[in-house]
Amino acid sequence: MQYLEVAKEAACAAGELLRARFHKPLTVNAATAHDIKLEVDVLAQDLITKILLERFPQHALYGEEGIVGDQSSDHQWIVDPLDGTVNFFYGIPHFCVSIGLRFRGVMMTGVIYDPIRDELWSGEKGKPPLLNGNPIRVSPRTALAQAIVSIGLAKTSATIEAGLPVLEEMVHRVRKCRMLGSAALDLAYVACGRLDAYIEQGISLWDIAAGSLLVEAAGGRVEMEARSDMPDKFRIIASSGRLELR
Ligand code: IPD
Repeated sequence: MQYLEVAKEAACAAGELLRARFHKPLTVNAATAHDIKLEVDVLAQDLITKILLERFPQHALYGEEGIVGDQSSDHQWIVDPLDGTVNFFYGIPHFCVSIGLRFRGVMMTGVIYDPIRDELWSGEKGKPPLLNGNPIRVSPRTALAQAIVSIGLAKTSATIEAGLPVLEEMVHRVRKCRMLGSAALDLAYVACGRLDAYIEQGISLWDIAAGSLLVEAAGGRVEMEARSDMPDKFRIIASSGRLELR
């Protein structure tokens, strides 16, 4: 419980920072064809790191903006300080902070905070997760034809090539496909039944750690597979568990 409370505190503090910087001039640290790295990502992770590791100095932190501590220690925080960086940069109000905690390799705690809508998802393994304090469940829909599915294409040619056939197939089978630009919010939306599924072919652990715990705790199913051809990337299908997606 203390872990969850500190994770919420860190997510809200970072969210406040992001909200304050949204629509303000930004410093771009790096840009590639399909991605942007911002200074504010680093500032938000520094803030999260300070809050988490001041309280739990023996713990390790594995984040999009760098790692801290012994990654083989029992407790490992998995952090994306700003998921949806490209949305943030272009002024699209759809991004979040994602913080998960693994104990001996098992996800135990997950928090996702959308600072624009002030929505906070929080959960612990084996307990019903909450959205702003209210219990949530995955969607009860069982017909694929009525489903809404988010497909991520990520940020490299390889992940785009891997994702396009999935999009091409799914778009004919479901009511709507979406590409929202924040994997962590996609998972939070699956957990509370707004989306029926989220699929991506090459995604990093920090994007999906907290959200996967929320989906499973909300009664859904998460299939994750490490890619042998893309270092540190995973295939993921997260869903309500009530649809025939394959
Ligand atoms: C990205 C977003 C996007 C997903 C990419 C991620 P970032 O995270 O979650 O939706 O398609 O795979 O890398 O870079 O904004 O933290």
